[in-house]
Amino acid sequence: MSLELENIRSQFPLLERSVYGRRLVYLDSAATAQKPLCVVERMSELLLNENANIHRGVHLLSEEMTARYEEAREVVRRFVGAECREEIIFTSGATMSINLVAASWGGANLCEGDNIVVSEIEHHSNIVPWQLIAERTGAELRVIPVADNGALELDKLDTLIDEHTKMVAVTQASNTLGTRPPLEKIIAKAHSVGAVVLVDGCQGVVHGGVDVKALDCDFYAFSGHKLYGPTGIGVLYGKRELLDNMPPYMGGGDMVDKVSFAKTTYAPLPLKFEAGTSNYIGAVGLAEAIRFLQSLNAEEVAKHEKGLLDYATEQLQQIEGLRIYGTTEDKSPIISFNVEGCDHYDIGMILDKMGVAVRTGHHCAEPTMTRYGTNGVVRASIALYTNKEDIDTFIAALKRAVRMLK
Ligand code: ALA
Repeated sequence: MSLELENIRSQFPLLERSVYGRRLVYLDSAATAQKPLCVVERMSELLLNENANIHRGVHLLSEEMTARYEEAREVVRRFVGAECREEIIFTSGATMSINLVAASWGGANLCEGDNIVVSEIEHHSNIVPWQLIAERTGAELRVIPVADNGALELDKLDTLIDEHTKMVAVTQASNTLGTRPPLEKIIAKAHSVGAVVLVDGCQGVVHGGVDVKALDCDFYAFSGHKLYGPTGIGVLYGKRELLDNMPPYMGGGDMVDKVSFAKTTYAPLPLKFEAGTSNYIGAVGLAEAIRFLQSLNAEEVAKHEKGLLDYATEQLQQIEGLRIYGTTEDKSPIISFNVEGCDHYDIGMILDKMGVAVRTGHHCAEPTMTRYGTNGVVRASIALYTNKEDIDTFIAALKRAVRMLK
């Protein structure tokens, strides 16, 4: 079955918009993806007719909403291939998920002499939480370097990961280079020295999903809003035994068993890590986005996105002075580039006026930018609703922008 692109696009009303009187070309889905009608309609229905706080009331509305929230957890559990519901924690997004692990697991397990290994192509959200916990505990932060083409230099793994390594935190797909590191290899190496592995799945889960059991990662984090779901909702998967042994991250709300001034005990998983009123509307919206994705043919989606990535790459390569950052074979549908003699910000501004939305700047990946000797890039990112006309309009607008700037 081939992808019915026009039918898919019709489910994203925003794509019909025009900006500055031109047809919108939205190539910023790696920053946030647009939402299909089913997600917005489901959330609107919940807010208008079904709203009540979860896990608290004895009344019907509360019980119904609690059931929907737990059903959403089950949808996520099956989607990532986790063993049980206890392994799925709802958070506000991937950043919170990673901070939770760094503070809770890191605070309990790291000390001076230990090391944490990240890669040079991580988003700040998978760097700064580790720096914070390294400062608090005295652990050392080590970095897997990236080669010119955007691949990680895996020959360095044997020296970087040693018997003092306690955590390896690595992305499933880089938000700037598109690189998809060979996670199986990294995880096997980390496990061989007894280290645990956190995978930042933000940009990876949306292009091909994940099977956490098959991958054998210990933690996996992603955000809802990049997966065609709402903002303010994210997921942390963790192996049950690890989560069970971790102290709570935040206190308050329903994460307790009994509270007294003498001693407070905590709720079992997953609620131990869900302090305060959870974003239950967001969780149900995320489940709806997952159902939407699962209603499509995953192979066709991947083929479609790869086709557009290859086409856009070919077209870009014909522009004189244009350099693409990240050229690995199996990269995610993300293209970051600069054009000699043009500022990335100026290109982004001009493209915007021509109806083309891209992201410019360091993309919260400053170490990656530093590695390639730039302070920013233009990034065009492709989603399942992107079509060839989007790419053609983008390329034509870019050529015009370059002519204006040179
Ligand atoms: N992390 C998001 C991006 O790469 C916001 O644009």
